[in-house]
Amino acid sequence: MTPTTANSQTTIATNAAWFQDNDHYIEAQSRLACYRNIQRIVEREVRGAGQVLDIGNGGFFNYDTTITEHVTAVDLFVPDGPGPTPNSTFRNGSFLALPFPDRSFDCAIQQNVLHHVTGRSVRANHDNMRQCLAEMFRVLRPGGKAVVVESTVGPLFYQFERLVYRPLLWVKRGGHPVTFQYTPRQLMDAAAEVGFELEEFSLIPRGWFILQLGYIWPCILTPAKPVKLVFRRRARG
Ligand SMILES: C[S@@+](CC[C@H](N)C(=O)[O-])C[C@H]1O[C@@H](n2cnc3c(N)ncnc32)[C@H](O)[C@@H]1O
Repeated sequence: MTPTTANSQTTIATNAAWFQDNDHYIEAQSRLACYRNIQRIVEREVRGAGQVLDIGNGGFFNYDTTITEHVTAVDLFVPDGPGPTPNSTFRNGSFLALPFPDRSFDCAIQQNVLHHVTGRSVRANHDNMRQCLAEMFRVLRPGGKAVVVESTVGPLFYQFERLVYRPLLWVKRGGHPVTFQYTPRQLMDAAAEVGFELEEFSLIPRGWFILQLGYIWPCILTPAKPVKLVFRRRARG
């Protein structure tokens, strides 16, 4: 695997700026069935999970943080300190180099972040995605679980996205940060490469509308397929 650092993400500043001012994003989520489904899924996984790490959490919680021991939330723009809910702490940092020692958490969760950790090329995107999963693995205790809730695409749309990614970087100026979505198979293969075992793969019901690039779209017009993946770091490893 190509060694990567936080600098491999060229969209750090645009992500931080866009999501820091995120009232519109939070309000839009609260209205859509897709995100209520995600909330239910996340609560099921987080309940009683012990010490939880929520990566790229967006500065807000879409679940009740009192259902587990403690939640540490890390994002590019949150300040270090207490979180906005009981049982929670904020930590400033990047998914690519999580600011925690090895084996610190029982459960690591990421919701719709991997497709935001984008760089200068498709290759850099894949390296970043693998590095993020390797970081999830590193900070989990043996036996711990990683919950990946992610917007994915099918193999056909992926080929299209791969072709247009570089030209898009040239023309895109301002607004929502550039994203790059993976197929579920690519996420599963990368997770296996960094040492995880797959425990669950399921499609999340989308409802009628979904958020893409900061706007609400009828699902029928977008290729996005939200998925839930649960990976385990083996008890010995
Ligand atoms: C689509 S939002 C998801 C927010 C929240 N997880 C949710 O599901 O509502 C993507 C989040 O990922 C964060 N992000 C992007 N790159 C990141 C990185 N390298 N490290 C940590 N967070 C990152 C952004 O700042 C933003 O808050």
